[in-house]
Amino acid sequence: MPDRKPFVGGNWKMNTNRTTGSDLARGVTDGVLNIDGVDVAVFPPFPYLLTIRAILRDRGSSIRLGAQNIYQSAEGAFTGEVSANMLKDCGVQVVLCGHSERRHVIGEKDELVNKKVRQTLESGVEAILCVGETLDERLAGHQDIVNARQVRTGLAEIPGSWLERLIVAYEPVWAIGTGKTATPQDAQDAHKQIRTQLAKQYGPDAANRVRIIYGGSVKPDVAADIFAMPDVDGGLIGGASLNAADFVTICKAAATSGRSK
Ligand code: 13P
Repeated sequence: MPDRKPFVGGNWKMNTNRTTGSDLARGVTDGVLNIDGVDVAVFPPFPYLLTIRAILRDRGSSIRLGAQNIYQSAEGAFTGEVSANMLKDCGVQVVLCGHSERRHVIGEKDELVNKKVRQTLESGVEAILCVGETLDERLAGHQDIVNARQVRTGLAEIPGSWLERLIVAYEPVWAIGTGKTATPQDAQDAHKQIRTQLAKQYGPDAANRVRIIYGGSVKPDVAADIFAMPDVDGGLIGGASLNAADFVTICKAAATSGRSK
């Protein structure tokens, strides 16, 4: 059985301010202090990265600092954008690429997401490639085709040697911020199919080592059932990550989910 340590990320999206974000970071840091068996990351908004980094550092926390987005070029005349080196300079260790809100609100396409994944991994930082179907795509029965395409294109020209810094997040768009969670079996089916796509590209051994995490209205009461599924290796949490106690409960559920798988 491959050794896949669960990973739980708190995607704060465009929420918090300097005070509430700091309080949240302190609450999460203290709450997960004695929890082993799970990698935890928080993804604050860009302006608060250094503030949150200082809090994590002061408390000697192993929580990873994450960024919600990256620009695909290294530097230059790209007003308003943020590069890999800037993120690294701020202590960022992991970057979200192709989150559904960036795909569907901002309009990012698979090819652009691929450039962002490449830029992130090339710079030595961990990348979370987010994939997932819309409600219309699911109702049409196209979820497997969509997820396979997003994985295949998102990882184009990514060498297998970079995969140890890659996580895939399955986030069905219809379950994000809606209170609707995929059933554990729906999540398992999608994760298994994503792993099959990874195996096509990189072989079964490499595919078995990649963590695939679930995101979409994960709350404390459903987390354990979802994380118990064999191909679900943790979660990417939106709304519930804004409450320290809820997020810590979800981290505990991942840590006790019978892993490493
Ligand atoms: P919610 O947990 O609020 O549905 O958000 C999920 C998500 O988009 C995490 O990246």
